[in-house]
Amino acid sequence: MAEPKLSVRNLGKTFISDRGTTVALEGVDLDIGDNEFVGLVGTSGCGKSTLLSIAAGLETQSEGEIRIDGADITGPGLDRGVVFQSYTLLPWLTAEQNVEFALRASGRSSAEAASIARDHMRLVGLTGFEKAYPAELSGGMKQRVAIARALSYRPKMLLMDEPFGALDALTRHHMQELLTGIWEQHRLTVLFITHDVEEAVYLSDRVAVMTNRPGRIKKIVPIDLPRPRRYTMAASPEFQALHREVMDAIRSESLAAAGFAEALE
Ligand SMILES: Nc1ncnc2c1ncn2[C@@H]1O[C@H](COP(=O)(O)OP(=O)(O)OP(=O)(O)O)[C@@H](O)[C@H]1O
Ligand SMILES: [Mg+2]
Repeated sequence: MAEPKLSVRNLGKTFISDRGTTVALEGVDLDIGDNEFVGLVGTSGCGKSTLLSIAAGLETQSEGEIRIDGADITGPGLDRGVVFQSYTLLPWLTAEQNVEFALRASGRSSAEAASIARDHMRLVGLTGFEKAYPAELSGGMKQRVAIARALSYRPKMLLMDEPFGALDALTRHHMQELLTGIWEQHRLTVLFITHDVEEAVYLSDRVAVMTNRPGRIKKIVPIDLPRPRRYTMAASPEFQALHREVMDAIRSESLAAAGFAEALE
């Protein structure tokens, strides 16, 4: 691989609190190439969000290295856009103002911010809802504003933590198509956490499966399905085989966590 966009080496994270010590990550190694879409899956509590928070600069690692374009990540920055599961819009600003706010923070003039925000509202299919407040938008619409905001200032990398986790199946499906459409046109590097294996396979170039806590990368499954991806591909034998391979890797971890070692023989 050429110089990776994101490079993670021997990353470890230990949380220490009054209630005890939790080793969330230990020896995580992962490279994400420029313009690559990597899905990250693993059992609940294995450390996925912790890894993403460190990449976002919202947490610091206890050991190891994490770099973007060769530079150590030391805090949040406009080179990374972050989208979380829960809607993180500012409720007192309209949809468009939420996007403009991020653009103003990245140093754009108010005229530039207004024009870029309008373009991004169109990109996510929200033309006509620019002046709506978050409380007036559905879950899927709020998440589209969050995606518009994260894309608007042209980060090198998008970090997404179960961005569609709270949505109903149909809206989630639309959002997946929207995201693949944007990604196929605009190309950017994405780390995408999900519990939905089908979603991971559908969207990703590679799916990384984590072990149980302390999390590290257990397996990387390359998804050699053609692009543009189409939803009908989910029915193909190739898709099914990849789904099965990722599922098996997660399943053996969740059985091990539950103490069913014999079921793995
Ligand atoms: N701020 C914190 N302080 C203490 N422990 C934490 C903190 N954040 C996470 N942890 C612990 O680290 C471990 C990994 O948590 P993390 O949220 O990264 O898991 P996850 O893989 O994202 O799980 P899920 O799939 O349920 O979202 C858990 O045991 C969790 O309790
Ligand atoms: Mg999580």
